[in-house]
Amino acid sequence: MLFFGGDYNPEQWPERVWDEDVALMRQAGVTIATVGVFAWSHLEPSEGRFEFGWLDRVLDKLHEGGIKVALATPTASPPPWFTLAYPSAMPVNADGVRLTHGSRDTYCVSAPAYRTAAMTIALKIASRYAHHPALAMWHVHNEYGTDCRCDLTAAAFRTWLQKKHGDLDALNSAWTTAFWSQRYSDWAQIMPPRATQYLPNPAQVLDFRRFLSDELLAAYIEQRDLLRGHNPDIPVTTNFVQGGWVSVDHARWASEVDIVAVDHYPSSSGIGAEEETAFAGDLARGWGGGSWLLMETAPNLIYTRDRMHAKEPGRLTRHSLGYVARGSAGAMYFQWRQPRGGAEMFHSALVPHAGPDSPVFREAVGLGRTLKNLAPRLASAPPPDSQIAITWDAASWWALQGGGLPASDLDYLGAVRQVHRALFRSSLQADFVFPGVSVSSFGDYRVLVVPHLYLVSDPVAAAVREFVAGGGHLVVGYLSGIALPDGRVRLGGYPGAFREVLGVRVVEWQPVAPGESFVLDDGSHASRWRERVETAGASTIARYADGVLAGSPAVTRRRFGAGVAWYVSTGLSDEGWQRLLGVVAAEAGVEPVVAGLPDSVEAVRRGDLLFLFNHGESVVTVGSTAVPGGGVRVVSGLSASSSTSSAFGCPAPITPPGTPSDKPTAKSASPG
Ligand code: GLA
Repeated sequence: MLFFGGDYNPEQWPERVWDEDVALMRQAGVTIATVGVFAWSHLEPSEGRFEFGWLDRVLDKLHEGGIKVALATPTASPPPWFTLAYPSAMPVNADGVRLTHGSRDTYCVSAPAYRTAAMTIALKIASRYAHHPALAMWHVHNEYGTDCRCDLTAAAFRTWLQKKHGDLDALNSAWTTAFWSQRYSDWAQIMPPRATQYLPNPAQVLDFRRFLSDELLAAYIEQRDLLRGHNPDIPVTTNFVQGGWVSVDHARWASEVDIVAVDHYPSSSGIGAEEETAFAGDLARGWGGGSWLLMETAPNLIYTRDRMHAKEPGRLTRHSLGYVARGSAGAMYFQWRQPRGGAEMFHSALVPHAGPDSPVFREAVGLGRTLKNLAPRLASAPPPDSQIAITWDAASWWALQGGGLPASDLDYLGAVRQVHRALFRSSLQADFVFPGVSVSSFGDYRVLVVPHLYLVSDPVAAAVREFVAGGGHLVVGYLSGIALPDGRVRLGGYPGAFREVLGVRVVEWQPVAPGESFVLDDGSHASRWRERVETAGASTIARYADGVLAGSPAVTRRRFGAGVAWYVSTGLSDEGWQRLLGVVAAEAGVEPVVAGLPDSVEAVRRGDLLFLFNHGESVVTVGSTAVPGGGVRVVSGLSASSSTSSAFGCPAPITPPGTPSDKPTAKSASPG
């Protein structure tokens, strides 16, 4: 069975709507509903007074309808009574302002009162429902990531620091507290980063984010162990949220959940949304070691920067199958029914305000059928497999968000997404690896791409060296290998950790003003960043073509042992990265999933299934398979030309109205 469903909030509706919900879920082929995520104030209306009757009835109705339940602990949103009873458990921001209820996530994870209240409601839920026949999964909390800088947090931070650094001398050294007279002579002097006069100490900020990730994880583990104790057969997870503000290192958390569950909301209305979907799927698969679950996405909207963009017909299906192709155990949404009020009343849902007589519900019905048909074929299909790995490191992201850096717009996420996008556009499938957590995974890859891996430990540097010496192809982008994991710079020239293997020494950075672009002597365009690079064993592949660096190396390549190490000292354009990574992949003998695809077509191989997504409007033929505009085809067998294909979804979404399949063929491509 593939999971298909989403957040279901029956507490927002009168009971008479619940029967219709179950009937519509059955019509759409929903297999699972996530219940209770924000129901704390309905389950415990005042402290110690519990009301479970309504939830009993909801779970029973879902069970009678054959729908499984991911039952949540509602601890992300404590009720108003909690605030008034335990004001010291409310979060305090960096400016010292204590927040109050009125939204969600108003709690301090280090506050004993919060932890106790959370465990109390979790215990009630666990003991009541652990053996309910509808229960398929526990969904702990919601999107851990809440930040607090209060005195309780300060105390917990100090305990964490003592464990990590051992003594104050070690901390003073790791944090370079000799700078600006910050030397600590007593643990009690150490605070979480709070509003201060000028720039904070970057090492303090970095350690605080790591602390917060561990502190939130401890709160999750507490609940997980409680739930497991009541029924060890039910998997436990929590939904990961991504964002620069989130102090959660998901790569570290992944080993603590039974299945990695990810919420993902693309932010571009154009093909960028598909590129982001692919990125999120590949990253989540990396966290999950192959398997994962899309826990929430928006059925019918894409949040762009300043507005909601309604998905075109067929796009819900393509996005959903995109996640599944990249290893998700299903497709789940926020949310089932669009609420009548509340802060997110216009967030889209499978049943919108218009009701089931709506394009989104009709497409959901088709998608439910599609997933049902696909499930048996996926049961034996291993997750996508790749010979190319990209590094991901939450701590490097955090380090590059600070002040006092050479440019204020350093963009870790953007840099990683850019190399993934370049591979995506060449139909080169990529995995993610997590050198900040484990260094053992480079071995089987042919190509390792290292964008903005700012923090690098000595063992990781050694593993990368070994990877190349053993025949791997390494591509390191600027701002990698700069500092030790504690944030102190590696001396002797950048990129310290990788200088030897790359055969280069960078002696000066020249960040470039926003909007300014320049060319290299091979015709590549670049922006954002330039460096003065000295070669020390590497050959120059492209040089800066003008300006003060005219004639000096921009892109280099070095044979090292049995492998090759490339260095990219500048912000190549998308086309530049695509060309470069195409060359590297070809040298490394890595084939695209399907060669020569038009830009609008995405191919993903999962086991012996080939998923072909046509994000354009015209029909495209891949091998012997015609993929209509806006449609998806899943091909059995390793080659599209010698296999049977199936169209997925209801006819409308797969071949959207106005894009008949007899439109002229845009391009033909052959599977690789
Ligand atoms: C996340 C949250 C949901 C909701 C959606 C939409 O997925 O988990 O509760 O807020 O975002 O914003």
